[in-house]
Parts: sequence; C-alpha cells; structure tokens
Amino acid sequence: KVAAMQGRFHYYEGYSMEQVTFPLYVLKALGCKALLVTNACGGLNPRFQPGDLMLISDHINILPNPLIGPNSEELGLRFPDMSQAYDKGLQQLARASAEELEIDLKTGIYSYCKGPSYESPAEIRSLRMLGADAVGMSTVPEVITARHMGMRVLGISCITNMAAGILDQPLNHAEVMETGRQVEKKFSSLISRIVENW
Ligand code: HPA
Repeated sequence: KVAAMQGRFHYYEGYSMEQVTFPLYVLKALGCKALLVTNACGGLNPRFQPGDLMLISDHINILPNPLIGPNSEELGLRFPDMSQAYDKGLQQLARASAEELEIDLKTGIYSYCKGPSYESPAEIRSLRMLGADAVGMSTVPEVITARHMGMRVLGISCITNMAAGILDQPLNHAEVMETGRQVEKKFSSLISRIVENW
C-alpha cells in the first residue's frame, strides 16, 4: 500500500521545522514503514548534467535540526543514528530498477540549504569542498524525521540545473521548472518501477 503526497512544505516558505516534518508523523501513524523521497536540486559534481537523476547516498545538514525540542520516546530515540540514513538495500533496488529501464542513475551526496535565494558561487565552492554533489532546499528534515521513527529511506534527486558558479551563467527558476518538465516521464517511470519491484 502506498500513500503519496502531493507536494511538501518547505522551511523557506516560513513554516517551522515542526510544520515541515508534520506529514512524516502522519505517514508513520498511517503505518508507513518506508519513505521514498524526491526533489529537484542543483548539481555540483562536474560529471552531472541537468536532467540527470541521482540516488542520494548521504546528506549534509547545516540547518536547524527538525528534532530540536522535547522528544517522544514512543516515536524514536533522542539521539538517532544517521550513519546509514539512506537504506543500502533500497539503493540496490533503485539501481536495479534504473538498469531495467536503461536509465543512467548517478549517485551522490545531497546538501541542504535554506533558500529561497539560490546559493552564491562561493557557497557552492565551500559545499563542494565539504563533499556535496548536489544542493537543494528540502528533503533532509523529512529524512532525519523518518529515520528518527525507524522508517527506511530511499531518496532520489533530479538535477534540474548546475549550481551557481559551476557554469558561467546565472541561475533562473524557469530553467529549473523546464528541466523538471522534461524529466517528468523518466522520473515517474523510475519511481513506478521501484514501487513495482519493492
Ligand atoms: N540550489 C538549491 N535548490 C535548488 C537548485 C539549486 O541550484 N535547483 C533546484 N533546487
């Protein structure tokens, strides 16, 4: 059984971390055991190009942690482990599904930035030094919350543009939306196949 969310809440919209992650608590209460999370993001790794899909192998969180505040031991640990936030078995399942569809699925580390302004070239250079392959404005709070509650997590990003300063051209939201539209079919067929192979 699958519960699908139509969109999400972002921190940059002015929602608190509690509001951003509230749907995860609802999904858990509905009985969800795993989370398949997707996003649009900017590419830092020079081997990536707009339109690529990237399996998230790990993340970098430099924002307020969504678990700050009182903890309910019923839901999860006070200090949850993030050493394997993205489930190895589900990553393997995603790779096999991509292979079946002959989709070139990249792998990389997703870094979370607040937004809503895109990052500066200097910020992107720093994130690259930290080991990031992609940058976006979502996903990490939801993943931390899901892991807190013991849900298995699979994350897939769509590289909609190269991050600021990687190419000698300004970023614009229209490019991000346009790449998203172009990739829609490939992305949704991969997600469907992953769900079928689950
Ligand atoms: N940076 C942050 N978030 C994004 C980007 C980006 O370059 N592209 C799509 N979401």
